Amino acid sequence: MTKPVSIPARFYLTTPIYYVNARPHLGHAYSTIVCDAIARRKRAQGIDTWFLTGTDEHGQKIERSAKLAGRTPQEFATALSQEFRGLWDRLGLSYDDFIRTTEERHKRGVQHLFATLRDRGYIYKGSYTGQYCVSDEAYVEGPPGTPCPDCGRITETVSEENYFFKLSAFERKLLEFYEANPDFMGPESTRREVISFVRGGLKDLSVSRTSFSWGIPVPGDEKHVIYVWLDALANYITALGYGSDDPVDQARFAKFWPADMHLIGKEISRFHCVYWPAFLMAAGIALPRSIKANGWLLFDQGKMSKSRGNIVRAETVDEVLGADALRYFLLREIPFGQDGNFSFDALVQRYNGDLANGYGNLVSRVVNMVHKYFAGVLPEAGAETAAEIGLRKSAERAIAEFGPAFSELNFSDALKGLWLLVAETDGYLTANAPWKRPPDRSDLDHAQLQARVLATSAECIRIITALVYPILPESAAKVWKQLGLGEIQDAAKQAFLTHLAWGGLKAGTKLEEPAPLFPRKEKDAIEHMQNLEDKNNSSAVAAASVGGANTEPVAAPQAAAVAVNAVESKAPARATASPVAPPAPTAIPAAIPVAEQHLPAPQVAAEPQLAERQVIGIDDFSKVELRVAQVLVAERIPKADKLLRLEVDLGYEKRQILAGIAQYYEPEKLIGRKIVIVANLAPRKMRGLVSNGMLLAASLPDGAPVLAGFLEEVPLGARLK
Ligand code: MSP
Repeated sequence: MTKPVSIPARFYLTTPIYYVNARPHLGHAYSTIVCDAIARRKRAQGIDTWFLTGTDEHGQKIERSAKLAGRTPQEFATALSQEFRGLWDRLGLSYDDFIRTTEERHKRGVQHLFATLRDRGYIYKGSYTGQYCVSDEAYVEGPPGTPCPDCGRITETVSEENYFFKLSAFERKLLEFYEANPDFMGPESTRREVISFVRGGLKDLSVSRTSFSWGIPVPGDEKHVIYVWLDALANYITALGYGSDDPVDQARFAKFWPADMHLIGKEISRFHCVYWPAFLMAAGIALPRSIKANGWLLFDQGKMSKSRGNIVRAETVDEVLGADALRYFLLREIPFGQDGNFSFDALVQRYNGDLANGYGNLVSRVVNMVHKYFAGVLPEAGAETAAEIGLRKSAERAIAEFGPAFSELNFSDALKGLWLLVAETDGYLTANAPWKRPPDRSDLDHAQLQARVLATSAECIRIITALVYPILPESAAKVWKQLGLGEIQDAAKQAFLTHLAWGGLKAGTKLEEPAPLFPRKEKDAIEHMQNLEDKNNSSAVAAASVGGANTEPVAAPQAAAVAVNAVESKAPARATASPVAPPAPTAIPAAIPVAEQHLPAPQVAAEPQLAERQVIGIDDFSKVELRVAQVLVAERIPKADKLLRLEVDLGYEKRQILAGIAQYYEPEKLIGRKIVIVANLAPRKMRGLVSNGMLLAASLPDGAPVLAGFLEEVPLGARLK
């Protein structure tokens, strides 16, 4: 008889790889923290785990961000990638590998994948004219000016000869696959959305670009770069060694692929659940076992993101409350798969309620009393009474329920259940008051009660700590030591934390000195975090304005971001003229028309007649919000000779503006240029497109506009006063 082959348990999980166009914020930390908690529990179950994260560094979006920061894409990507990695290290995240898509191992693997798809007949050459969202690096259906259905930003028109992937050939195969593998994607809302997208029909997908060069060249046709999503998705296999000849890489790939779980944000499910399986099917590579989408972290009601200017950095929470508090809050507060609000108030409330007054206080009471009454040596519990039996049953229930809830990514319920045990143990301690001897109780009886209550409570703490370790790794390690159990990592390696049974903490164990775990925080912790964020926001502006190291394209201070409203541009002819009466020379000291330099001779505008002049007070002037913006996109509008469609970046926000300057400015020459806009006019529609603001320009005697600009460096979003 042949023995069944035993397959060693292994688990491969991945985070999305993060775009390096901006610094990491709490939204990014959230996905990575969830993966870290899963990886830690898997390892604690004795499963050979591989946890991958990294950065997504190619594409037009990064190329543009680098240009705005005045750096090469490679320098820019390296600086930002280091920020991500540095933050993951600071937060103690236990990734096994960090891949950068600019690494050789990745480029080689992506080219191999592309060549394989082409050799197998799934890639052909064609031409594409359509809309593209640079922010999401996604193709979008619709006429020019169509907003991206995912992020709402205005798409750009792309007209190129491209390589196409035969996505249409996979419509039926994908639907069959989803049907046969109901757990492949989740939550249910994601599954439904993806299936209905595929049922709606799949068109072939353009998988190369020629209009920019920051990407991986198509093998054998180097003027094309590979579409950034094909490049990025492949990280999950290239990091393991796909496409390498090295036997070590090949063995790692054979061992860990297919992935057990890709954890992603819900907005990128189409790329992961449709394109990625189709690429893999076409290349003859096994499909990942599951793709799970987390919801968004919201702040001030909106998705936390750089472009909204409503980000909070993980460093701030780490500095004031510690990384464990952040992990606990995110996993306890937000049911996985749903959107969840982040607020400093709620964070500090949870911290004080559940960690400082809850778990932390319980540990400190028990450890202190064992030191006080038993010289730090855990006493024998003795015979159980009804109270201990009840508590033991609760602990056994917690053990039985925590694992399944956690495996279903239901972290919030897993923690809720465990904290019932924290509360019950606390209540048991208070009810039995081992610190107070009633007059009718003998010394011996009292000592026995103290021993029973403290040994039982300490055992509950051991169980709580073992279970909570993946979520509070740093604090659990401290408690484990205080309980005299040594290094929690060693216990994790031996699967002691997950194969739990009542009675593991033995009498005679020498406890360590108590040390504070979660010191209570007062209201000023909230202010402290808010101040750290404000300080960071203003220094981001300052750093960006001088093009300093590690700058991200400028983020405006939050207060300014909130104050900005959508604006209207007037008729195209007026869009080029100053909207206010000519200000006194001191009113806008920084505004110097750059085009002056190109004029053959100084020209002087006729002095306005007194009757034309309308004198306004400073209050009137301050109602007009003039701000610095940078042109990202400029293109002509079909059948509108005078109008250009611009997409401009205010640092904290991008918007579309229509300007009647098409007869005076070549669109290509405007890209990258800093201009001044009126930012608080109500939006207005022209030619079916919305204009969200108005440019400032001097009007020459012949009516030609000359755009306002600056000689010195100015940060995006800066207000002119
Ligand atoms: N580079 C792509 C992913 C490629 S994976 C092959 C990308 N990068 S991203 O930086 O924009 O986003 C990375 C992840 O961070 C996504 O899963 C996204 O959902 C997550 N988050 C970014 N902001 C977020 C919140 N405010 N809340 C929760 N997660 C969010 O997409």
